[in-house]
Amino acid sequence: MNTHPEQDALAADAADPGRRAEFLIPPAPAGAPYPETAYFAGNSLGLQPRDAAAAVQAELAEWSGQAVEAWFAAERPWVTYPALLREDMAALVGARPEETVVMNALTVNLHLLMATFYRPEGERVRILIEDTAFPSDSYAVAGQAAWHGLDPARAVVRLPAADIPAYLAAEGGTVALVLLGGINYLTGELLDIPGITAAAHEAGAVAGWDLAHAAGNVPLSLHDWNADFAVWCTYKYLNGGPGAPGACFVHARHLSGGADPALPRLTGWWGTDERVRFEMRPDRDHVPAADAWQVSTPPILGLAALRAALAVHAKAGMAELSARSRRLTGYLESLLAPMSGGPIELITPSDPARRGAQLSVRVAAGDAAGLAGRLHARHGVLADVRNPDVIRFAPVPLYSTYHDCWRAAQALAAESV
Ligand SMILES: Cc1ncc(COP(=O)(O)O)c(C=O)c1O
Repeated sequence: MNTHPEQDALAADAADPGRRAEFLIPPAPAGAPYPETAYFAGNSLGLQPRDAAAAVQAELAEWSGQAVEAWFAAERPWVTYPALLREDMAALVGARPEETVVMNALTVNLHLLMATFYRPEGERVRILIEDTAFPSDSYAVAGQAAWHGLDPARAVVRLPAADIPAYLAAEGGTVALVLLGGINYLTGELLDIPGITAAAHEAGAVAGWDLAHAAGNVPLSLHDWNADFAVWCTYKYLNGGPGAPGACFVHARHLSGGADPALPRLTGWWGTDERVRFEMRPDRDHVPAADAWQVSTPPILGLAALRAALAVHAKAGMAELSARSRRLTGYLESLLAPMSGGPIELITPSDPARRGAQLSVRVAAGDAAGLAGRLHARHGVLADVRNPDVIRFAPVPLYSTYHDCWRAAQALAAESV
């Protein structure tokens, strides 16, 4: 049973309130003991910032008022709208502004960047991924290997993350690309991004990162860490909304010489220099920026919502978020730890330096989906299940509360017996 007094949680919230007021909190299902959902699924879909609707509405008004003219004549001309997100996005991941671009969706960006950076040649053909990689990444690397005429079963090597440095030391000459999740979606483990990047480079391989669960969650220094490329989505910790545009990073050293015209790239008109884009020439002008990987017309309404969300992050700053994240996740851990080894097992590293705002629990017996369903229906505690037996709790420092954590522990204790 959770013996921590509710008053302690409420007092912690009063002392350390976060920015919940800037978000819309879903109501709890009827019959739950509190009116608001205790929302722990922000690592799947972040909550809606209060300002998002007005930001989208403003661009809808440009559309109704000016239609096509808005591409150039809107208050925020649509033709340069993606650039409005650049500084905030770059700051979040520790990149120079020209190293990031907001575009497409994560897996699409992964393919676009692998088209450039996965160059199998001779013996060096392998792609290393984690054995618990997110399925889309597994499919994407298999698809790339096959597209190069290779057998994915041989070209793709799946390993526990802990074994990757040793594999690189022993077999590095066969590895073309190391592609890992910065934070593992299932366990919530934060990998040693700079260390693995350095080991990949030492072996002569490219280091690419899927930061879906890391961007906006933990401090990142992609430029200083020398990552070759990274991709992430913006609908989780970045609160950009369902299917919000993704983002990517290409290190400055790959952008030299006009985005290095020699680098192969899958191209489209949005990747040409915006100053000549509408000259409608058949050849492109390369720009020395991640923008060179853009292909198509950007989705302005999605960008508008994301811009509002990034503004909240920019106000908070990663340092504030990360500090509150550690306090909140540590508090949830202290409530769940007494149950670990019993009805649940905590599978996220307990070292705060090796995780972000997620605690995953393996349900010892019975049906994890059924348990998660009861947590929601009876207690208004919304966490998500990753089959077959893991429930993930993400106390998001922007809007989650200590009281949410207390409710989660109460509900788990009540439903696990
Ligand atoms: C780690 C990880 N990689 C990739 C994806 C796929 O993202 P998308 O559907 O935006 O391509 C997800 C989605 O949740 C994810 O969690």
